[in-house]
Amino acid sequence: MKGLILAAGLGTRLRPITSLRPKPTISVANKPLIHYAVDDLVEAGVTDIGVVVSYLTIESIKETLAGYRGASFTYLLQNPPRGLAHAVKVSREFLGDDPFVMLLSDNLFEHGITSFVKAFEPERGMNAVCALVPVPREDARSLGVAVVEGGRITRLVEKPEDPPSTLAVAGVYVFDATIHAMIEDLEPGAKGEYQITDAIQMLITRGHTVVPVQVEGWWKDTGKPEDILDANRLQLMQLRSAVRGEVTDSNLVGEVVVEEGAVVRNTTIFGPAIVGRGAQVENAYVGPFTSIGDDVVLVNAELEFAVVGARTRIRGVGPRIQGSLIGEDVHLEGHRGRPSSHRLVVGDESRILLQES
Ligand code: G1P
Repeated sequence: MKGLILAAGLGTRLRPITSLRPKPTISVANKPLIHYAVDDLVEAGVTDIGVVVSYLTIESIKETLAGYRGASFTYLLQNPPRGLAHAVKVSREFLGDDPFVMLLSDNLFEHGITSFVKAFEPERGMNAVCALVPVPREDARSLGVAVVEGGRITRLVEKPEDPPSTLAVAGVYVFDATIHAMIEDLEPGAKGEYQITDAIQMLITRGHTVVPVQVEGWWKDTGKPEDILDANRLQLMQLRSAVRGEVTDSNLVGEVVVEEGAVVRNTTIFGPAIVGRGAQVENAYVGPFTSIGDDVVLVNAELEFAVVGARTRIRGVGPRIQGSLIGEDVHLEGHRGRPSSHRLVVGDESRILLQES
C-alpha cells in the first residue's frame, strides 16, 4: 500500500497566515499539519509516500518533511492544482497499479487513519473505501456527501445545494488501481476542477464497490482560521504535562508542556498549553488551549485560546489576547506614549478585532 498526501493547495482562506508559507507547514499544537498526515500513514503501516505539491509549495514542504519518521517521500508536481482527481492523475507513475491511501494534508483525525486502511479488503471485491462523518446539514453543503445503502456507498455528490444525506466525506480515501481509468474519463466540474467525488461516483455507476467507514472520534478540516484554533484545542486536549525547560516563580495548572530551552518566569499558565523550544515567557498569563511556538517572546502580556507562530514577539500588550491566530516572526508591542493610538503595519487580508475603549 502506498500513501498519497495532497499538499498543493494555496490555503487562500487562511491568508495572511498562508501568504508566505503553505498551509501544510502551519503548526497545530506546535506540530506542522503535514506531520500529522505522515504520522497517520506511518501508524497505518504506510511508509512509501507520494506528496503532491505545486511550485509554490514544494520547497517549504520538502524542508518540513526532510527525514521525518524515516518515511520515503516522492514529490509530485501538480501545476496548477486542478482538483483532487487531477492530483491522482499527476501521481499515476508513482502509484503504478498499487492500492493507495490518499490523505488531504489539512484534515486531522483524532484516531488516525488505520481503521480505514484496515477496512479495505480488495480480496472481498472492494475498489475503494471512503471515510464518512455525520455533520450538521448546513455543513454538508460545503463538503462531499454520501448516500449509504446496504453497507455500500450508492451515491456521492460534491458540495450539493440540497444534501441527499448528512454523511460527509472526510479527507481520507483508499483506492485500488480501478480509480485511474475513471479519472481518465472524467470531465472537469465547477471551477474547471477534476473532483475525486465525481471519479468515485463513476466507480459506483460502473458497478464497482465503494465501502463507507465511519470516522470514530473527532475529525477536523482546517480550512479557516477558526478551524486551526479549534484543531489546536482538540490536539491540546490530548496533552500530558512535561517540563523540559526552566520554570521559576510560576504557577502551572493542568496539562502544560514547557519544551527544552524555554524559560518561564513569574507567569501563570492554565493548561492545556504548550510553550515551544527556546521560548521566553515572563510576567505573563497563558490561558487554556494556547500553543506558543519555538523561540517566541511573550513578556508582560496575557494570552489564551491562541496559536502563536515561531519567533513572534509579544510585549507589553494591554488587554488579553484571545481567540487569536498569530503567524511567525510577528511583532506585537504595546506603547504608552501620546497620542494614545494603535499603530499598525498590517499585511494584506489580515483580520484584526480591536477592543473599543
Ligand atoms: C474536499 C473534497 C470533499 C471533502 C473535503 C473534506 O473538499 O472535495 O469531498 O468532503 O475535502 O475536507 P475541499 O475541502 O478541498 O473543498
